[in-house]
Amino acid sequence: MKIAVFVSGGGTNLQAIIDNTKVGILKDIEISLVLSSSSGAYALTRASDNNLRSVVINAKDYATRDEWDLAVLHAVEESGAELIVLAGYLSLIGPRTVREYSNRIINIHPALIPSFCGAGMYGIKPHEAALARGVKVSGATVHFVNDKYDSGPILLQKAVDVRPDDTPEVLQKRIMRECEWNILPRAIRLIADGKVEIKDNIAYVIN
Ligand code: GRF
Repeated sequence: MKIAVFVSGGGTNLQAIIDNTKVGILKDIEISLVLSSSSGAYALTRASDNNLRSVVINAKDYATRDEWDLAVLHAVEESGAELIVLAGYLSLIGPRTVREYSNRIINIHPALIPSFCGAGMYGIKPHEAALARGVKVSGATVHFVNDKYDSGPILLQKAVDVRPDDTPEVLQKRIMRECEWNILPRAIRLIADGKVEIKDNIAYVIN
């Protein structure tokens, strides 16, 4: 199966996917496109270091949101990708792309949805909010993407304990290492194996 990975920043989740295509659970998966919303994303360096095709599509370079949405959609279609993986991608996906790739777009969010998610909850913010609320566990969620932030069917979640001396940065790193880099490749594996069914906005993993 071919996948397109969308990025905006450092790309450690992209790296986890790349690593798993080499020695791991994604050996039959091909990353046919890395699409970045920003030309400065370090994820682009990771893409070129691994000889992956990449493209920068920034909404600011398009006259309308519709034109940007179509450019994104065409790039993905041209790459032959059957699944779009949002790995630290900071833009809301356009309605046309969401429609054409219905139930074929997943996102990784660094909190246990429905906690600490929605518009503005990206980067360090979910971790700051989790510590401010005093939760005792936090983690990450892989979910399908619809036209609203973080509200599509939940596919996988993994939790870690929050420790009394955690700072947002320390918690963020623990969640990346122990949750995100693990459940995002696993989610791709499940979808590639046809083991996911969605009914009434609930995702079921079938054996
Ligand atoms: C991750 O925490 C991811 O959950 C969130 O954005 C961050 C991206 O990190 N959506 P990276 O670019 O994969 O290193």
